[in-house]
Amino acid sequence: MNPIKIAVVGVGSISRAHIESYRATPETELYAFCDINETRLRYMGEKYGITRLYTDEAQMLAELPEIEAVSVCTWNSAHAPCSIMALNAGKHVLCEKPMATNVADAVAMKEAAEKSGKLLMIGFVRRFGRDCFLVRDLIRNGSLGEIYYSKAVNIRRNGNPGGWFGEKSRSGGGPLIDLGVHSIDLVRYLMGMPDAVSVYGTTFCKLGDRRNIKTPKKYVASSRTDHDVCDCEDLASALIRFDNGAVLSVEMSFALNTADETNNIQLFGTSAGVKMDGGVTLFGETDGYLTDTAFDGKTGLDFDEAFRREVGHFAACIRGKETCINTADDGIALMKILTAIYRSAEEGHEVTL
Ligand SMILES: NC(=O)c1ccc[n+]([C@@H]2O[C@H](COP(=O)([O-])OP(=O)(O)OC[C@H]3O[C@@H](n4cnc5c(N)ncnc54)[C@H](O)[C@@H]3O)[C@@H](O)[C@H]2O)c1
Repeated sequence: MNPIKIAVVGVGSISRAHIESYRATPETELYAFCDINETRLRYMGEKYGITRLYTDEAQMLAELPEIEAVSVCTWNSAHAPCSIMALNAGKHVLCEKPMATNVADAVAMKEAAEKSGKLLMIGFVRRFGRDCFLVRDLIRNGSLGEIYYSKAVNIRRNGNPGGWFGEKSRSGGGPLIDLGVHSIDLVRYLMGMPDAVSVYGTTFCKLGDRRNIKTPKKYVASSRTDHDVCDCEDLASALIRFDNGAVLSVEMSFALNTADETNNIQLFGTSAGVKMDGGVTLFGETDGYLTDTAFDGKTGLDFDEAFRREVGHFAACIRGKETCINTADDGIALMKILTAIYRSAEEGHEVTL
């Protein structure tokens, strides 16, 4: 069978993970790039030896009907228009997370996929991490017992990437939609996809993007400039209650005066708890003694490998060999949770879904 011809729309930072993964996937052929930033487009074309370069997605789709699938790696507000355009042209789409910046756009994307009969897969890449496979196994085998509480924390002290990440009209929000989307999705996935029934959220916009701070930033958007607008939250916290009775506590920041820069997920069960912080540790008890079990390093998160698996799954789904696990419905469910948290923060009370 001929390899699947792939176009990448938006060739900024994260596109490299998609591009490298397609290069490593024999079922796919990197075929064309599209970006509204012509300088970046030419640079990436040269770097990866791609000569079909477009600044306009519609023109690319019209001139290259042989394209079979598209990776959408644009900033968040362009996910919906770029995905819908590709779906309407009969292409399969792998869209980066978050699915969109609001629920209506996410639903419109799903409708476009249904109308075209093409695959719309959402880039929840953490589901393809080795740590996720391990913890899923532990949960399936009953090692955790009943999971009734969970906690996801991704706290950056000075980590607003700038560029579009801080600008609400292009990002849809700050650390909650950017980082929280990964954690909330992973917790739901590990817990067997319970539905959220209510959320209580708070957001704060106090420190901005710390553009005058002299300490170097860890995360810098490729599109960062000295004139960036920063109008998103820099801290978000929320409690999410699920229909199985479990609760997830979320804390996400781009900027916070804290000593604890942390990025981890913990699930607390009746038999044991588990912490995912790159590696995986199980906290349980044996014969009346508390035990900490650290798993072999090879079970930890490797992002490059996770992206290769994600892209491999996308290709296998297109060829009918696998059934998509990152569905449009999952993306919509996440958008509903995220927007409910923002609404709760704005209105100052719990929001039911
Ligand atoms: N899965 C992950 O772990 C992960 C990590 C980082 C970023 N992301 C997601 O990937 C996406 C891109 O993030 P990034 O860091 O690469 O941003 P980036 O700014 O580096 O790249 C985005 C690119 O999209 C281009 N673009 C915007 N609108 C376009 C349009 N209509 N047509 C063509 N090109 C367009 C921009 O010019 C830019 O080059 C975001 O949605 C982000 O949330 C995911």
